[in-house]
Amino acid sequence: MGPSAEPRLRPTPLQEGPHKQLHQRLQRVRQRTEALIAGLEPEDLCLQGMADASPPKWHLGHTTWFFEAFLLEPHLSGWQVEDRRWAYLFNSYYDAVGERHPRPQRGLLTRPPIAAVLAWRRRVDAGLAALVGDLPHRPPAEAGALAALLELGLQHEQQHQELLLMDLLDGFSRNPLEPAVDSGPQGAEAEWTRRTGGDAAARGWRSHPGGLVAIGHDQEDPCFHFDNEAPRHRVWLEPFELAESLVTNAEVAEFIADGGYRRPELWMSEGWAVVQARRWQAPRYWRGDAEFTLAGLRPRPPGAPVRHLSWFEADAFARWAGARLPSEAEWELAASGPGDLPMAFGLLWQWTASPYRPYPGFAPAPGAVGEYNGKFMTSQFVLRGSSFLTPPDHARSTYRNFFPPASRWMAAGLRLARG
Ligand SMILES: [Fe+2]
Repeated sequence: MGPSAEPRLRPTPLQEGPHKQLHQRLQRVRQRTEALIAGLEPEDLCLQGMADASPPKWHLGHTTWFFEAFLLEPHLSGWQVEDRRWAYLFNSYYDAVGERHPRPQRGLLTRPPIAAVLAWRRRVDAGLAALVGDLPHRPPAEAGALAALLELGLQHEQQHQELLLMDLLDGFSRNPLEPAVDSGPQGAEAEWTRRTGGDAAARGWRSHPGGLVAIGHDQEDPCFHFDNEAPRHRVWLEPFELAESLVTNAEVAEFIADGGYRRPELWMSEGWAVVQARRWQAPRYWRGDAEFTLAGLRPRPPGAPVRHLSWFEADAFARWAGARLPSEAEWELAASGPGDLPMAFGLLWQWTASPYRPYPGFAPAPGAVGEYNGKFMTSQFVLRGSSFLTPPDHARSTYRNFFPPASRWMAAGLRLARG
């Protein structure tokens, strides 16, 4: 076990204001991660259903490593790293920080045990509280940069909260007993049912004249954004229409009944090869008239938005429907313009037709955190909005999520566009 020395710091009561707010937010976000595993069994914490997914314990360790590696070790005087070897286990993809354990083998890490990871989290939480308390003593530019890095760590942890649930759904879906991660009224699936439970939204189309428009994070806006959302820039759009609701289970059932998964003319060539190789016949978690969810096997309401399909399936469905996927610029314009775009946030990430590439003038953040987004800007597509698994204060109209086109374990659906 690592050293227990605590950092040498001037004792500073947290004052009212931004630093106190940051400290409270820190506590709230870190506690929420642990609440997500509260109902799990010890065996669940090492579950890794596939190479793309990670065990819950790894998510708890990795988010903690992020704070220790990027904030505490370089910026908190006297901080002693818990265990140097853990950087190898819990570094995800930061080449600048060093070598790491292969991702497909994260499920083999029965040690360190969860108790040690949780104790490490406590110690790192205390270190972060000390760092926040010390910010008023630092030069304003340094304090500002550290507060921004802390916020990045929190946003990162929130991203992992959603990943943790996606990965659990994947892992649990491979168990023939069809167990539930959480079937209670506070669980994510209960929230999904509440949000989609009413009558199916009437299908309508929203027209936009197009023209020269601006998308991306406005640098005057003080709200947090990831580097990939900037800079704001101009885009030319032809006139277009966007559906006011997401595609439903019933509509995809119609696509399937019409031979959707058996008609190569509907698919991109690469997608058709995936359909053949993996024998896809329906979205990822469909099982007869039911679907596998975080609450176990549940009926699949025809009017609810279809979820857990790949870009290839979304693209083929849109073609079959005589429509197309929206570009990310079309989506952002509709979601940030006057009048709310229905079903934009809190249900499902929505596939767009846009490849994930840097905006004109994009510059990754300096240092190792520059690896956060920029190096993944190839061979993936952008998803917009947010899902029922996304933490509530982790959504905005400029947010760019991204996944490879064959991925379908994330909570993704689609909205049609035409024109
Ligand atoms: Fe990460």
